[in-house]
Amino acid sequence: MNIVNIKDTSGKLYYIGGVVRDELLGRESFDIDITYVGNAIEYCAKFGEVIRVNPDFGTIRVNVCGREVDFASTRAEVYDRKGHLPRITKIGCGLKEDVLRRDFTVNALAKSITTGEIIDYTGGLDDLKNKTLRVLHDGSFIDDPTRIIRGLKFSVRFGFELDEHTKKLQDEYLSAVNYDMCYKRVKKELMETFNLNSQEAFERFIRDGIYKLVTEKKVVLPVVNIEELIKKYPVQNVWLVYAGVLRDLSRLELTRQEKKILDDFAVLENSRMNNDFEIYRAFENAEQESILLYAILKDKDRACRYLDNLRNIKIQTNGEDLQKLGIKPSPEYKKIFDAILTAKLANPQMTGADEINIVKNYLNS
Ligand code: CTP
Repeated sequence: MNIVNIKDTSGKLYYIGGVVRDELLGRESFDIDITYVGNAIEYCAKFGEVIRVNPDFGTIRVNVCGREVDFASTRAEVYDRKGHLPRITKIGCGLKEDVLRRDFTVNALAKSITTGEIIDYTGGLDDLKNKTLRVLHDGSFIDDPTRIIRGLKFSVRFGFELDEHTKKLQDEYLSAVNYDMCYKRVKKELMETFNLNSQEAFERFIRDGIYKLVTEKKVVLPVVNIEELIKKYPVQNVWLVYAGVLRDLSRLELTRQEKKILDDFAVLENSRMNNDFEIYRAFENAEQESILLYAILKDKDRACRYLDNLRNIKIQTNGEDLQKLGIKPSPEYKKIFDAILTAKLANPQMTGADEINIVKNYLNS
């Protein structure tokens, strides 16, 4: 089902990585990766309209019958700087060398486009059967620590477990993290993992100490079930509600919107909220993600009181109405609106006419 319609008799084209894994698991793949033993840019342009070429990586993206397919040249890599992008040492190497640079055995399977044969140099087929994630060599997490997060993502997505030795290597790495790593990749993997909205993934992230890749500060598991919270109150930035629990995301490059969510939460955390009026005013302009963080890290009941009961209460009276009552625009307006809101929070059924009466009483008092 993941296969695209490519006829090739060269014997040098292989489906590779996630697409082979997903097909064997009977799952749909997000993207289709094909590797060519040799120079893919020269060979693969003929399969359709070329969308993008990257000569440095020997890759080419082609539209094959309406699906975007990434063709890569087989390549060998070394990690000169651990935790950062590898340096390509050879483009057009043998298939085995290309496979051995990869993260887990289940991601190191190839399927010949010419014969349909599965090529398994690392025991990936057995691991797939046994639902096991196993790295290909002991230095795998040192080369690329984002693989620890990828392991979490795949284990939750497929219900797989890390093999014992791989778990030991992970624990070893997490006991002495090298923070000089490419956080752009860390962020990408965190987003993909937490966007699964899985409480289980988050609990493992905290309990197994995977969070130590992001911050040196100690993190404890909150009692609130974040998955349930997000199901009840959907948000766009699911991942950030989970990651925000770490409080310290200074190593990640956040967008302005993401920063605003965390800043809003910091303000909320220190806001006085002793009654409905203060709760309403504190939350009314905050992003929903910030409110959920407040629910998780500070006070769930208060946040839910706002989300369930208060947020839909809106006063109808506006500045124009006040002018019609002969009140000139001034800072007094804010006090009047506050008085209306206080009354309306206590009695949400209040009509527009009731609100005007509040204004009149306020003016008389
Ligand atoms: N890969 C790796 N180490 C990484 C990232 C990727 O070895 N840090 C290799 C794996 O062989 C992987 C392939 O590159 O299968 C493609 O990477 P990616 O598209 O990120 O992963 P997929 O396995 O295709 O998973 P997904 O289904 O999430 O796209």
